Amino acid sequence: MMGLKTLLLVSLLGVLALRVAAGSHHGLTLPGAPYNVSENDPGLQQAVLDGTYFFNNQSNDAFLFKPSTIHRAQRQVVKGVRYIVDLEISRTICHKRDNKDLSNCDFQPEGRLHQTFQCHCEVWVIPWLKEIKTEEFSCKS
Ligand SMILES: *[C@@H]1O[C@H](CO)[C@@H](O)[C@H](O)[C@H]1NC(C)=O
Ligand SMILES: *[C@@H]1O[C@H](CO)[C@@H](O)[C@H](O)[C@H]1NC(C)=O
Repeated sequence: MMGLKTLLLVSLLGVLALRVAAGSHHGLTLPGAPYNVSENDPGLQQAVLDGTYFFNNQSNDAFLFKPSTIHRAQRQVVKGVRYIVDLEISRTICHKRDNKDLSNCDFQPEGRLHQTFQCHCEVWVIPWLKEIKTEEFSCKS
């Protein structure tokens, strides 16, 4: 017969397991709820890069833009991972037609061509399908 002590121990372990499952995000987190993610998160960086390609492909600008500041970055698990990002992108010195790698493109210096947009971006990543899709990238100056 299970003694009272064992019963207590079992329920205590149950509580501990629940706490561990809730993870390091300040107590309980709801499954599927978005939570903040570090700017250095590799998944976030990949998502922002994809969003930036999406933006550059859609824009009529002669130059490429790239991210200059990340204001807020969140990650949400929904049939894959959705990244929700508020960021600034700024015009670089690279002409679109030159098809350069963005990492080699410096920002425009202060002056006529210097420009920054405030953007909201949502990118959906499905790791097991190696799929990444920018669902929204909207900007205002
Ligand atoms: C770029 O835009 C064109 C037409 O607007 C589209 O056909 C193409 O799939 C886009 N490429 C990417 C990488 O989004
Ligand atoms: C998430 O990040 C935003 C912007 O950096 C901040 O204002 C907010 O307090 C953060 N939320 C949590 C729960 O840490």
